[in-house]
Amino acid sequence: MQLSCLKDATQYLTELITGKPRVGIVLGTGLNSLIDQVEVSLAISYDSIPHFPVSTVEFHKGSLVFGKIADVPIVAMQGRFHYYEGYSLQEVTFPIRVLKELGIEFLLLSNAAGGMNMDYKKGDLVIIQDHLNLLPDNPLRGLGPEWGNRFVDMSEPYDPGLRQALEQVLQEEGLPVKKGIYVSVIGPSLETKAEYRWLRNTGADMVGMSTVPEVIVANQLGIKCAAISVITDECDPDNLKPINISEIIEVAGKADQKLTRVFCKVISKL
Ligand code: HPA
Repeated sequence: MQLSCLKDATQYLTELITGKPRVGIVLGTGLNSLIDQVEVSLAISYDSIPHFPVSTVEFHKGSLVFGKIADVPIVAMQGRFHYYEGYSLQEVTFPIRVLKELGIEFLLLSNAAGGMNMDYKKGDLVIIQDHLNLLPDNPLRGLGPEWGNRFVDMSEPYDPGLRQALEQVLQEEGLPVKKGIYVSVIGPSLETKAEYRWLRNTGADMVGMSTVPEVIVANQLGIKCAAISVITDECDPDNLKPINISEIIEVAGKADQKLTRVFCKVISKL
């Protein structure tokens, strides 16, 4: 990856947009309704942005949406990139670098995740407190100092102030406040019972195939992050039911409006 790629993508977008987005939003699997709340000024397909990866997952749209939510300028990634698609973690996180160049100060991420903590039910929103990276790579590996600090502090990768704001909004919305540790795995196959048992023993509460690389890069760039997992399946190794991706998408879809309300309200407070 060359720095000039970042410059090309940023320049292309800067010429199209007016003003700077303050908040970046990453919409995970089956999570889309937030876009309906955006006063859209511009939507650009990923395939027209120089050097941007293109989404290979059929249920992930692939566009960058600029506009306002509650008068706050935002940019939303409608669809993200995953390691399991074959992209390197540098490619997966390239959009986060572009959003930083465009001016974002905050990043709100969402994902669909399997719940291994038995207090979680399908459709729950869980605030990510911390994570475990079990992907076989790190998005900063191989990048020289021109890309920023290598040895990024990860003592609080999810901003305590934003986490607090999410918690408050969940309470205001009458939703249960659940928090947990997210572990990222390669996928795309789901886990065996033995793997869920092992992952639970690592201290993780939920498991998914995204988010961690984006959060690592956002921390390198000084962007304040917060993330919510939507629990799409209950991963009890002693009582595991078969699950398929359409069910995961369906459950995420049912929780989508809830997530939208929470994100919009948090954004209105920024
Ligand atoms: N495992 C991994 N990723 C997931 C899961 C899961 O159980 N559910 C949703 N994304």
